[in-house]
Amino acid sequence: MSTLPLPESREAEIKRNAGGRLTAPDILRRKRSEPLVMLTAYTARMAEILDPHCDLLLVGDSLAQVIYGLPTTLPVSLEMMATHGAAVVRGSKRALVVIDMPFRSYEEGPEQAFRNASWLLQETGAGAVKIEGGIGLAETVSFLKARGIPVMSHIGLTPQSVHTLGGYKVQGRSNEDFSQIMQDAQALDNAGAFAIVVEAVVEALARSVTQAVECPTIGIGASPACDGQVLVVDDMLGMTERVARFVKRYENLSGRIDAAVAAYSQSVRARAFPEPANLY
Ligand code: KIV
Repeated sequence: MSTLPLPESREAEIKRNAGGRLTAPDILRRKRSEPLVMLTAYTARMAEILDPHCDLLLVGDSLAQVIYGLPTTLPVSLEMMATHGAAVVRGSKRALVVIDMPFRSYEEGPEQAFRNASWLLQETGAGAVKIEGGIGLAETVSFLKARGIPVMSHIGLTPQSVHTLGGYKVQGRSNEDFSQIMQDAQALDNAGAFAIVVEAVVEALARSVTQAVECPTIGIGASPACDGQVLVVDDMLGMTERVARFVKRYENLSGRIDAAVAAYSQSVRARAFPEPANLY
């Protein structure tokens, strides 16, 4: 377990970085300080809009469903992650950009994980990777960290394991599950993860994990007890049709786009667009 320096306020941290990007050690220092704000981002323009408000931008493999209309995250390739990761880095200035390692790119062992994680960081300029899994990935976390790659872990509901979990279900309901996820969190923390995403777990478990580990926890469907929160940006903006109970919709963008496109279509059909102001 790492000995943490004193928590630092967001303001002090921005000053110290003198306008530069946040780093994994900055995020680690935020434990027991102000809550961490993370959203997913997949494109340069969206990254540019989110950057002033977020501490971390996650290039999630949720781009499978959000961008590519795929049924699960399993078909995502390293090349897809690199393309979107590079766009998010180009669009942002201050947030730490974290890239998901896709299914099949790290599970064989630490060497495979290092080969693919180092390639992702070289191709994109991102500052960290995220991998899904518990105690069985602890050795990989410490192997990557020792070789200069900060790792964010992801426990609880891990979507790449949808077939072994038997669906997208809330985790930690049984005593056995609860104590397994506690052990996962402690092993990953000891291995040197700079943060842990905790997805879709019962509130008591999110609270116990957050108290037990030295690194910050970032919750998604895991209660306000976590040290920060993350959502899929398209879900919170109201772009996706169906969302999990843990999502709060802060906008109805699909409704607004529908109204704008209906107005455009109507004016084109009525030959009311382009207007004189749009002509050369
Ligand atoms: O891929 C993703 O968007 C994620 C978040 C849901 C945490 O892993």
